[in-house]
Amino acid sequence: MSDTVTITDNRTGNQLECPIISGTYGEPVIDTKLLHKELGMFTIDPGFGTTASCRSSITYLDGDNGVLLHRGYPIEQLAENSNFTEVCYLLLHGELPNSQEMVDWDHAIKMHTMTHEHLSRFYQGYRYDAHPMSIMAGVVNALASYYHDATDIQNPEHRLLTAKRVIAKMPNIASKCYRYASGLPFVYPDNDKGFVENFLYMTFSWPSEQYAPPPVAIRALELLLILHADHEQNASTSAVRLAGSAESNPFGCIAAGINTLWGKAHGGANEAVVHMLEEIGDTSNIQKFVDKAKDKDDPFRLMGFGHRVYKNYDPRATIIRKACHDLITEMNIDQPMFEVAMELERIALEDDYFIERKLYPNVDFYSGLIYQALKIPVSMFTVMFAMARSAGWIAQWIELMEDPDFRIGRPRQLYIGTEKRDYVDVAKR
Ligand code: ACO
Repeated sequence: MSDTVTITDNRTGNQLECPIISGTYGEPVIDTKLLHKELGMFTIDPGFGTTASCRSSITYLDGDNGVLLHRGYPIEQLAENSNFTEVCYLLLHGELPNSQEMVDWDHAIKMHTMTHEHLSRFYQGYRYDAHPMSIMAGVVNALASYYHDATDIQNPEHRLLTAKRVIAKMPNIASKCYRYASGLPFVYPDNDKGFVENFLYMTFSWPSEQYAPPPVAIRALELLLILHADHEQNASTSAVRLAGSAESNPFGCIAAGINTLWGKAHGGANEAVVHMLEEIGDTSNIQKFVDKAKDKDDPFRLMGFGHRVYKNYDPRATIIRKACHDLITEMNIDQPMFEVAMELERIALEDDYFIERKLYPNVDFYSGLIYQALKIPVSMFTVMFAMARSAGWIAQWIELMEDPDFRIGRPRQLYIGTEKRDYVDVAKR
């Protein structure tokens, strides 16, 4: 039996043998490249539910069994043993660094933590109450105006230099988004500090006081950055790749990813979770909201529940759930919101509607709670996510640029509009 699928056009009897291609793991794919040429048809797959957009060797996820691997390493092992900058190295280079490579990599990232002084003035163009995601997307896009020494996207050295710049500058840019909105002066990076500590220092230090972030906050953020670093071909990563396929400037591609991540069906869910918990307010109201979420005539959904790919527990959510519970205990947090969250989690996990549809709490359900516990403002939640995901975006962009099958991304459509008709003068309409 050959590894093909035969597609038959029952109208004409014409057939096409499509090769079945298998990867290392996961469902095989049907190569339909010749479908239009041979049978004169396209495929339609709203939401790309069954469409593989590329070959990739960066991240593998198995939604049925709750598996997430980066370059083959299980997320649980990376969360337990690694740190964010090492995960960035792994995503970009495909291998874990040895000790000298790790020292060199940390040094290289630190050499790019500053941004051009002009860029600091760019923030003034935003209204004081602009959403930090809007500012971040604009500022990251503006990076394209500064680095004329690495604009050759065909040059691997230029690509790697751009990757270092993206990863290193995101904490600086993220911190300024917060400080601009808070009326606080910008803080320069201190390269004696680690990646996460430096971010907290730039974001929360006070000009007139000594500042040392609590170790529990550094640990929790490190974990969140690792867990969010990459996640295969999600909406924002696909946006980065699509922009990249037009051979656009890489900073512009990352800005496309930031804007896509912002949506509440994607990275914006962590912010939406907290707003929802605030709206619920008290455990006595939970059932009302669960009923609303189950009502087909009501568009309301429980934020932080469900995932396109994970139809089993999101492995990141398992790790982060424990971290969230530990943090609440360690910091002795006694806020009604955490009580509501824990009760909502319990009720939804026991409800047939959620069980049947395999709607488990996702990573955003818990990440919002952790940020809240660390007193990170709600509007900054998705910015934190973007800071982490920029590592995955730039690694995926590099992989795209090196792909032998590189072509501009150009989906087709099924036209369902009006038939051809003649223009009618305005006086006669
Ligand atoms: N609350 C209530 N019902 C839900 C929810 C939810 N959060 N999510 C899905 N459903 C229901 C749908 O109504 C649908 O029911 P039906 O079969 O009776 O029509 C069924 O579950 C399947 O839902 P789809 O919309 O087909 O699932 P899809 O894979 O397209 O959507 C998504 C996934 C967008 C994550 C969705 O579950 C959702 O909106 N969740 C809330 C937002 C959220 O938490 N997003 C973060 C995702 S993780 C990330 O991006 C990092």
